[in-house]
Amino acid sequence: MKKIKKKYMTGIQSTGTPHLGNILSVILPTIKYINKKKKKNLFFILIADLHSITNYKNLFLLKDNIYKTAAVWLSLLKRKKKIIFFRQSDIKEINELFWYLNCFYPFNRLKLSHSYKNKSNKNINTGIINYPLLMASDILLYNINNVFIGKDQIQHIEITRKIAKIVNNKINKKIFILPKYKIKYNFIIPGIDGRKMSKSNNNFINIFDNKYILEKQIMNIKTINKSIKDITYNDIKKTILFKIYYLISNKEEFFFLKEKIKNNKISFITIKKMLYKYILIFYYKERKKYSYYLNNKYIIKNFLYKGFKKAKIIAKKKISFIKKKLGLNI
Ligand code: TRP
Repeated sequence: MKKIKKKYMTGIQSTGTPHLGNILSVILPTIKYINKKKKKNLFFILIADLHSITNYKNLFLLKDNIYKTAAVWLSLLKRKKKIIFFRQSDIKEINELFWYLNCFYPFNRLKLSHSYKNKSNKNINTGIINYPLLMASDILLYNINNVFIGKDQIQHIEITRKIAKIVNNKINKKIFILPKYKIKYNFIIPGIDGRKMSKSNNNFINIFDNKYILEKQIMNIKTINKSIKDITYNDIKKTILFKIYYLISNKEEFFFLKEKIKNNKISFITIKKMLYKYILIFYYKERKKYSYYLNNKYIIKNFLYKGFKKAKIIAKKKISFIKKKLGLNI
């Protein structure tokens, strides 16, 4: 019997260089999965540039942010052949499906989603309200079985399943597959001030940044205003610094840190310095590749073009199938 290929997807909004929170919760777990799976599964990695416009600050930065997002993926990915790496705005069929989904999903339900509720204020644009349906279009257009996401995106997958069900029930059971999701951490990655790490909170660590900026970000991680000798090991474990160290380091490094703490031989500042050095050493190659790609943008463009060609073929087929089912083919 022929084994059916499973389809996986992940996407990152291109709002700048993906930060440590993105990298730990979505990018690295996806890459680990790609590397270990021997079966011929198909992986879609999407740069969500259309999503990034919903909360742009400066339109001149959009292009640069696409390159930066792509450069991070390309620097960390080892097996690039197994994936379809593409840009959302290159596939017009995503927008077409987005419109169809808009016409099926109840507006009142959409208003309940937290991507909208968290941001709701007078200046909110329609794109933010419709954001989950655009994400659903990315996923449903490609018959994705499993989506790699961070914890904050679970509701978007629930909405995706919901809209898929609505359309399937109204039109034809076989239009959409109901996707599942995979999350690595059941908690939100903390930023340097302890709130959710994000661009908008301005509390992120960018491991690809210039050395001095990276050092500053790490030195600014909030700690307790006491000497390490005066606090218990359990309290140290609760600090943001300890959590971030735990999340980013490998077993040996983390063991080394714990020993030092237990022997009282260390201060918070030394831990920060160790963390900084660890990142520079551990991500040495990736940091170099990142600048290489950004200095040679044509390579990024070539990768995205290859992905575009593959993604386009699948998208065209699926959208004409959907149109037929909707009765729009004359
Ligand atoms: N909304 C996702 C985020 O902000 C990004 C995204 C867009 C995505 N389209 C997707 C993730 C499709 C997975 C699948 O993190």
